[in-house]
Amino acid sequence: MSKVRGSLSATMTMSSQSNGSQTMCAGERISYQRLIEMELSALELAVQAVAEVPNEVLARTLSLVLGAGGKRLRPALVLLASHGNAHANLERRIALATAAELLHTATLVHDDVIDLAASRRGSQTVNHVLGNTLAVLTGDYLFGKSGELVASLGSPPIMSVFSWAVMELVKGELLRPHLSDDLATTEREYVAKIRGKTAVLLAMACETGSMLDANDDHARAAMHAYGMSLGMAFQIIDDVLDFTATEAELGKPVGNDLRQGTVTLPSILFMRQHPADPIIRRVLNGGASEADTERAVEAVRRSGAIEGSRECAAQYVAEAIGHLSTMPQTPARRSLEALAQFVVIRHD
Ligand code: FPP
Ligand code: MG
Repeated sequence: MSKVRGSLSATMTMSSQSNGSQTMCAGERISYQRLIEMELSALELAVQAVAEVPNEVLARTLSLVLGAGGKRLRPALVLLASHGNAHANLERRIALATAAELLHTATLVHDDVIDLAASRRGSQTVNHVLGNTLAVLTGDYLFGKSGELVASLGSPPIMSVFSWAVMELVKGELLRPHLSDDLATTEREYVAKIRGKTAVLLAMACETGSMLDANDDHARAAMHAYGMSLGMAFQIIDDVLDFTATEAELGKPVGNDLRQGTVTLPSILFMRQHPADPIIRRVLNGGASEADTERAVEAVRRSGAIEGSRECAAQYVAEAIGHLSTMPQTPARRSLEALAQFVVIRHD
């Protein structure tokens, strides 16, 4: 794994190295973003414009969630996947990219209601500040707006992939991997959950991007598969960062997953490596003190489970890049490769 990570760091533009960690300047573009720099700026304007509605309450909640930033990873995937589509104009690519970001934001707003979350992306959540009713309605509005944008493209096949992703997201959100004595079962349930809640949205962004004003079944299948593998890697790293990142990097409290009883790959690998450890199971079952919870978070953080999870993510990244191997060697393909590599070295 260290070999893979070492070779990846060169693909990012780093501004500084402090305390051995690499950080990026605010506003600086990561290598995979350079090809779509202009599109990403246009996307940002389109996303912020969604908050310009006459209803004051909605305008406030939309500004809160859309102004909180974010990696804009899903729109970047749409923009890169549609980059070579000769007939796709900028306006249509931005519409689809905006739809992907709005759908993603809608799912997060609803997820924060379900999880009773107080903060996300360093800001207070709508449910925390204004209550569940406004949060649900804000998510609904974003979901509706994303559907309107996709419909405006006039492509039933793209609308169909979009709808598939929505239904899979709901199924993924409903899954709750349970802490079985047989950890292989728990791991299978975890894989199914992250596939549904994260990978399908990345697959949708890639697949629909490749379909926009183009008709290449091979590219479509390759981009779907790339997005799926990338999404798996992305979520595994998210679950690692829940243990290893700082609260400032995460924009939400560290160790949230254990606290909420959410089983993720680092805790599964930890339990496999330390079958006699009673604390982590107690924490995940919801019967532990705060001191024990902190001890469990620290124990996982210092264990080989973190490196094991990173290795698993790196395998998914290699798989994702492999799915691009039959695609023409274009700048967009190179950016998609760089994006996949970025996913495992990111810090937030
Ligand atoms: C975050 O998981 C959850 C998701 C990314 C998916 C949420 C999906 C839904 C609420 C269903 C579909 C919704 C719509 C609007 C179609 P997490 O809680 O593990 O991660 P977190 O720590 O970022 O909250
Ligand atoms: Mg959540």
